[in-house]
Amino acid sequence: MLSKIFRKKRKKKATPQYKLKWEKKWSSGDFDASWEADDIPVLIRDMEAKGIIKKGASLIDVGCGSGKLSFLLAEEGFDVLGIDFSESAIKQAKTNYGGKNDRLNFQVHDITNEPPEDWKFDLAVDKGTFHVIPLNLTPKYAMNIHKILSDNGRIILAYALKKAWKLREVKKNYDIKNILKQHIEDIFSQYFTIEEYANSSFKRHFGFKEPALLILMKKKQFIK
Ligand SMILES: C[S@@+](CC[C@H](N)C(=O)[O-])C[C@H]1O[C@@H](n2cnc3c(N)ncnc32)[C@H](O)[C@@H]1O
Repeated sequence: MLSKIFRKKRKKKATPQYKLKWEKKWSSGDFDASWEADDIPVLIRDMEAKGIIKKGASLIDVGCGSGKLSFLLAEEGFDVLGIDFSESAIKQAKTNYGGKNDRLNFQVHDITNEPPEDWKFDLAVDKGTFHVIPLNLTPKYAMNIHKILSDNGRIILAYALKKAWKLREVKKNYDIKNILKQHIEDIFSQYFTIEEYANSSFKRHFGFKEPALLILMKKKQFIK
């Protein structure tokens, strides 16, 4: 039901053109990705501290853009594959970080397409990608992430709250986090157990920090 609320905001994007839009941005040469990461998500450090994930674990950075977060994760000691459906983004990521860390690789791939059979990751990290995926493709997104995770695999989503803030219902209720949580449950609960929500932020220009919600989910072994 609540997904309908999101559909109102995102339905215009539910076309194949959204891929072209990203390709244009990344190929423009001077595209300024103001949200670039300056650190790895806090939940990953928590998971390391609790021993849930260890150095050497395999990670996929979904929608890696110019590759900064993938690089930071590789520097942290994880084996990282950064994927993006934009060829220009991957070209830029390789120019920025190619050869700088043996644990790091980049590949062009659309996460809403069938993934390669041999992909298995301990953790998927998604900073700001799920929230730009057109709603008609979000069930495929959830199904594919489930497929590429190993048993006990997890996903961390970072969802900018501004994306949800424009919703009419949110403005009326000021209940942004609960509406977003319900949306996440609608899409993911068939495949994942939601383990934790944590407050976070995306760095933006001039030191401005955009509030974001981190969502940690664990793969369900048996799905209906
Ligand atoms: C808001 S940017 C975030 C980039 C990066 N995660 C970061 O934080 O710097 C979203 C990225 O997702 C990519 N993207 C969008 N839809 C995708 C899809 N279906 N498969 C793979 N990448 C996608 C875009 O090309 C873009 O690079």
